[in-house]
Amino acid sequence: MTLSGKRILLIIGGGIAAYKALDLIRRLRERGVVVRVVMTAAAQEFVTTLSAGALSADHVFTDLFDRNDEHDVGHIRLSREAGLVVVAPATADLMAKLANGHANDLASTVLLATDKQVLMAPAMNPKMWSHPATRRNRATLQKDGVAFVGPAKGEMAESNEAGEGRMAEPLEIVAAIEALLAISPKPLAGRKIIVTSGPTHEPIDPVRYIANRSSGKQGHAIAAALARLGADVRLVSGPVGIADPADVTTQHVETANEMKDAVEQLLPADAAVFVAAVADWRSETSAGEKIKKVAGEGPPALQMIENPDILAGVGHHRKRPSLVVGFAAETQDLVSNAEAKLAKKGADFIVANDVSHEGGVMGGDRNKVRIVSKAGVDEWPEMSKDEVATRLAALIAERLKTVVV
Ligand SMILES: Cc1cc2nc3c(=O)[nH]c(=O)nc-3n(C[C@H](O)[C@H](O)[C@H](O)COP(=O)(O)O)c2cc1C
Repeated sequence: MTLSGKRILLIIGGGIAAYKALDLIRRLRERGVVVRVVMTAAAQEFVTTLSAGALSADHVFTDLFDRNDEHDVGHIRLSREAGLVVVAPATADLMAKLANGHANDLASTVLLATDKQVLMAPAMNPKMWSHPATRRNRATLQKDGVAFVGPAKGEMAESNEAGEGRMAEPLEIVAAIEALLAISPKPLAGRKIIVTSGPTHEPIDPVRYIANRSSGKQGHAIAAALARLGADVRLVSGPVGIADPADVTTQHVETANEMKDAVEQLLPADAAVFVAAVADWRSETSAGEKIKKVAGEGPPALQMIENPDILAGVGHHRKRPSLVVGFAAETQDLVSNAEAKLAKKGADFIVANDVSHEGGVMGGDRNKVRIVSKAGVDEWPEMSKDEVATRLAALIAERLKTVVV
């Protein structure tokens, strides 16, 4: 896949990372991309239109109402002529504007008027990034189909500030652009893919349950990435605190047994990706009423029994999908455990992640995985869960290419 000849509209927001947007223009131009630049008024406080114009070899657009500008092409044409709209740095302000449908300057109007995929590379102070308002806006934008790259954790430009909010590096943004543009042919159109995500809750009584720390972020991101490639995605999700992904049919379940039934009802399918952290065991009985704490009696003894193994069940099912992918969350002997799982479960490949990884994979936004298959072990660098999802979806599309619909 080459970017040569692709047209990208780059919107530069007003943050310190605007200087990195200049490098991004350079990197894209090196790859033969035609880059058109829009800068917000705040962006021009950080870098000049002169620099952006020199690097893009084009006029830089800044004003919604500039009818005298000989280069004026209008916000609608600007928003439609590109194959992809990239916002880097995406300020908290630009995210808030698009999430809420504001259009009061050229950048926000273009973003609202475009019919093209939007990719945002947020950059801001960690407090701004973790603010509930920004988190809400991000969730809304994701639901609306906006793709994200970064931000990363690290030192901020402001002294004595560290945390999550650094803009992704220009080459990471280029990789995200490549992944998104490869998506446009929709290689998974006509393919039905089942994805499971999140934890399961195994009841002890009406108010208590056994669960695990899975947030559903990775599974939901994979469902969204597969849908972006055109797949008909059926997501079976355990209880999670995140929104259903855009363009995906989501079914909510609570227990491992419910997840198993839901998955089996969805067969046949072309592929199945088992990301959910299904509880291995459940309490044999679930009390109809809340178990009372009785003084002097001590805690109740829980008799645990094994839950069904959904991955192995589908891996050996008579309606087995052509491609079965399992996840193995391990804290030790990652690869040997994944290899053992591969054979036992009838999976084509296992995505092994070390959940003891620093920063906590479960619940976190980043992941470091190894793809274990009969062909060997492919170690991927640490990246965001969205990036893992995009790469995995591309891998699944590649593998399914050889399977006739
Ligand atoms: C020195 C300085 C650095 C800033 N850095 C950021 C930043 O990294 N991210 C951000 O969202 N806002 C940052 N801001 C605030 C934005 O510039 C401000 O919200 C502005 O209105 C954004 O406008 P825009 O979204 O139209 O570009 C910064 C402001 C100043 C003065």
